[in-house]
Amino acid sequence: MTTPKDIVRDGHDVVSFAYRGDALDTDGDPCYGDLVGLLLSHLDAGSRVLDLGCGCGIPVARDFVARHHHVTGVDISPVQIRRACTLVPSADFICSDMTSTVFPTAGFDAIISLYAIIHVPLEEQRGLFRLISTWLKPGGWLLCTVGHRMWTGTEENWLGVNGGTMSWSHADEDTYGEWLRDLDFQIVRKQFIPDGEGGHTAFLSRRGRRTE
Ligand SMILES: C[S@@+](CC[C@H](N)C(=O)[O-])C[C@H]1O[C@@H](n2cnc3c(N)ncnc32)[C@H](O)[C@@H]1O
Repeated sequence: MTTPKDIVRDGHDVVSFAYRGDALDTDGDPCYGDLVGLLLSHLDAGSRVLDLGCGCGIPVARDFVARHHHVTGVDISPVQIRRACTLVPSADFICSDMTSTVFPTAGFDAIISLYAIIHVPLEEQRGLFRLISTWLKPGGWLLCTVGHRMWTGTEENWLGVNGGTMSWSHADEDTYGEWLRDLDFQIVRKQFIPDGEGGHTAFLSRRGRRTE
């Protein structure tokens, strides 16, 4: 049986180049320009940064983070990871499902996950945020783009690519905010990122010092 994660993995294999070429391309999206910059302004040089759902490593790893920090990128798509290894040779990349990847407790100063958690089945997302909170050092930073309104669905020929079926799963932004606060994150910035007739919500938040 084909699972939603199979669809997401195979879909990103197929649309990888249609989604992002090799050149720096932020589409004017404030997540990449302003919000990644804001997160990086809080880090000391040489920090350890995890990029969950890193795609091909552009623009976050290559054009922003790896210039001054150590990047570990995780992606479920073999094509995305193959490209990332070539495009960002200074970073470490793992081809794996982010929900079942093992990282050391408090191993990262910051975690970035842009437009990726929205591909994880909704019933697994709250548990993923719990894992993220354990992977971050106390006081560590999290930047993620998640759902604005609740919606789950699939699209055929995504980005006009023949065979590029894609699957998404969004909670609404209030739910994500609640999950973050429950996990002792302080929300520093919440921003609506318009996209066509809808959009996503970006949260920049900071892990508290509570231990569980
Ligand atoms: C829309 S792309 C965004 C890529 C990159 N973060 C960016 O902003 O350009 C979403 C990425 O998340 C990855 N992804 C989706 N579900 C995943 C999972 N469960 N584990 C790891 N990666 C996943 C996809 O393969 C894809 O490369």
